[in-house]
Amino acid sequence: MNVEHYHAAEVFGGGRTRFHPENFPILRVGLQIALRASLLYWWGNWNARQHQVRENMVSLRRLPSAFDGFRILQLSDFHLDIDPRITTGLIKALESLDYDLCVITGDYRSETFGPYGAAITEAARVMKVLKQPCYGILGNHDSLGMTPFLEALGLRMLLNEHVAIERDGEFIYIAGIDDPHYYETENFEQALEDIPPAATTILLSHTAETYRKALSCGIDYMLSGHTHGGQICLPGGFAPMRNAQHPRSMDKGPWSYHELQGYTTAGVGCSMVPVRFFCPPEIVIHTLRHAPSAH
Ligand SMILES: [Fe+2]
Repeated sequence: MNVEHYHAAEVFGGGRTRFHPENFPILRVGLQIALRASLLYWWGNWNARQHQVRENMVSLRRLPSAFDGFRILQLSDFHLDIDPRITTGLIKALESLDYDLCVITGDYRSETFGPYGAAITEAARVMKVLKQPCYGILGNHDSLGMTPFLEALGLRMLLNEHVAIERDGEFIYIAGIDDPHYYETENFEQALEDIPPAATTILLSHTAETYRKALSCGIDYMLSGHTHGGQICLPGGFAPMRNAQHPRSMDKGPWSYHELQGYTTAGVGCSMVPVRFFCPPEIVIHTLRHAPSAH
């Protein structure tokens, strides 16, 4: 909370990237004016409400056979208070989905500072349509103070901790770390403490910038967001603006780094301005498959 107090609204400063455009009001207002003047705003805002459901299959070598076919719904980067109509579009897309467990990889609030009541009110609408169990982490736009309110809505927060998921007497582990991008409060050792070394572990990390550490910790699969896939892209999906220090291949979709597999979702919401171009908001369902060992 002390780090938040002094650091939350900085434009230049700490974190993994030195410039934080989301905290730069002139840039945001300028972008809004330019988009509205060119009429692109209305098209981009419509795009931001067209949520796509992406099915992603991932083969994990150590996956217990009881979890073959297990489906994990991933949502990320809501920025819920930027435009309630985006939440309405999201809820509509969520209602008919089939999954076994839900994870949310951070960024519930629009701003990185200030009140979070409006975001919590919107989060309540989303949580009403999600099936349990639901596990979440915090992102760089979130306050630690939001945690009890999110948990009261049925979202169990993983702040450098993990849970064991049981199916037919077999287990996988879902671990979550605190925001590694801005607050750098992630603690892998604490999050993974006492997980059996041979167990399948899925890590929730707001940003994929932790990929090297995740590999060294033996994570099987890492789920991240934060990039919005670029949010405002060129035709073909190329992102001119990036906000993460990891390879471009990790900006969006499935990726791998040596034995570590990961997925970075383009997320369901918008930052700075409620528009998207050539980068639709996505809801991801990961289906876990048991991959036979090569030995
Ligand atoms: Fe973020």
